[in-house]
Order: sequence, then structure tokens, then C-alpha cells
Amino acid sequence: MKEIESNKHSWSQISEDHYYAFKARFKEGTQFFNYYIKRELGDITGKDIIHLQCNTGADTILLAQMGAEHVTGVDLVPENIYYAKKLASDLNVTNVDFFESDIMTLSQKYNKKHDMVFTSEGALVWLPDMEVWAKTVRSLLNDTGYLYVFDSHPFFLMLDEEKLDKQIYDIKYPYFKKTPDFDTTIGGYASERKGGVESYCWMFTVSDIINSLIRAGMRIDFFNEFTENFYDVGNMKKSDKEGLLIYEYNRDKYPMSFSLKASVNA
Ligand SMILES: C[S@@+](CC[C@H](N)C(=O)[O-])C[C@H]1O[C@@H](n2cnc3c(N)ncnc32)[C@H](O)[C@@H]1O
Repeated sequence: MKEIESNKHSWSQISEDHYYAFKARFKEGTQFFNYYIKRELGDITGKDIIHLQCNTGADTILLAQMGAEHVTGVDLVPENIYYAKKLASDLNVTNVDFFESDIMTLSQKYNKKHDMVFTSEGALVWLPDMEVWAKTVRSLLNDTGYLYVFDSHPFFLMLDEEKLDKQIYDIKYPYFKKTPDFDTTIGGYASERKGGVESYCWMFTVSDIINSLIRAGMRIDFFNEFTENFYDVGNMKKSDKEGLLIYEYNRDKYPMSFSLKASVNA
């Protein structure tokens, strides 16, 4: 797909910057999961986990350091895989491995089963088809396996991000839009945002996520909505919930992120 090829090139432009940024965070002790992920992930001791859209492996490594038996990171971008392996080697983390794949075609070439699928913080918007994603998630799990997701809430993804700090909630991106949005920049959450690229993001709805998982043979254990965000949209304040940001006026208004756990309906 031309848009995914273009995204592959776009993300490769910041792989090296991410590697250095995440390496510095590990050194400073500031690479950690946010408050909700930490609280909801539970005990992952001994689990065999697959981490989808792992970028340069920082969260894959965190999962491995939290007691998982083994964590496999998957990402679209070969440069991300190269730097993920380098980061794991720098940090002497050996219970991880990484490979390159588009999530949209992963189930056609990979048939290993895992105890858990993990994906978080800016993953789903890069995928054009939630049905394919959900079927892929199911195909990666053994019969007692489960999925954990923490990502942007589609309600927040509709809003004009440039106006939110002025307390203006304008719908800029249609909720039911199926064609991608185009941008000429990439990144910005771990290193400087880079321009001169062509990147494409897709909207997804709450029912897209939930129903595609149910249709793929999963049972929803929980779906939670949060007013905090995991990156700064502009002039956000640090939340008292570690690793998250908030607009003071938005303690009771709209959701910015969500989490979901779904188990295999065996
Ligand atoms: C915002 S990052 C994920 C953030 C991640 N939580 C982190 O720690 O950096 C999105 C990732 O999705 C990857 N990606 C985008 N489209 C993809 C696809 N179709 N298949 C697999 N990975 C993809 C990108 O290469 C990028 O590393």
C-alpha cells in the first residue's frame, strides 16, 4: 500500500534520534510506563509477549525488564529494528528479539502464538484497517492469551489540536472518515518533529475497535477512558498521574486516551 510505504520512509527519518533519546531516558531512569499502563498491566512475570509497533524497542525492553519471560517487538521500519536491537544490546537485555513487518500483513507470514499482545501510545492511527488488526491480534495469541492497548481516544482525535489549549473543541477530523489524513511531519514525542516527509494516519471509531475484536474471537474485559494524554498537544500540564499530561479545564470534559483489555474467547 502506497501510504504504508510512505509511512515507512517517514518513520525511518527519526529512528536514530529516537534511539539516542530512549537510551538517554534509560540512563536517567525516566523511561517508564504511564500510570494507567502500570496499574492495568498487572503481573507479567513469565509471560511471552509480542509488542506491536515497537518503534526503537524502548517499551519492549521495559516489558522484558518487568519480568516477562520473552518479548518480541515488531515494527514496520527496518531502521527501528536495527536501533531496537542496538538499544537492547547496550542495556544488556537478552530476553527480547525484534523483527520487521507491516502489521497489516503480519499474519500471512508469522504463526507463533504468545500469551499477550501489547500495543500503546500512538499505534492504531497508523493502521488502515481495524478488522485486519483485530484478526492479526487473535492470530498471535494462544487460547489463554490477551491483548492490552493504551492509545489515543478517537473522540480526541476528531478535535482540532491547535485550539485545545484555548479551550475550543472544534471537530476538524470526521469521526467516520475512512480515507487517511496527510501530514508533512513525523514524530515529536521522543525527539524533534521532522518535516519534509509524507505521512498518512487513519481515523478509527470506538465501535471499530470493539466490534472488530469481538468478530475476531475476543472478549472485551475492560474499556477505560481517560482525560489525560500521553504527549503534549500544546501547553498541557504534567498530570499527577505519572507519565501523563492534562488540560486543567478538561478534568470532566472529553477523553484523550483509552485502554482496553480483551481475552481470547476460547
Ligand atoms: C508512535 S510510534 C509507537 C509508539 C511507541 N509506543 C513508542 O514507544 O515509541 C508508531 C510506530 O508504528 C510503526 N508503524 C507505523 N505503521 C505501521 C505498520 N503498518 N505496521 C507496523 N508498524 C507500523 C512506526 O514505525 C512507529 O514505530
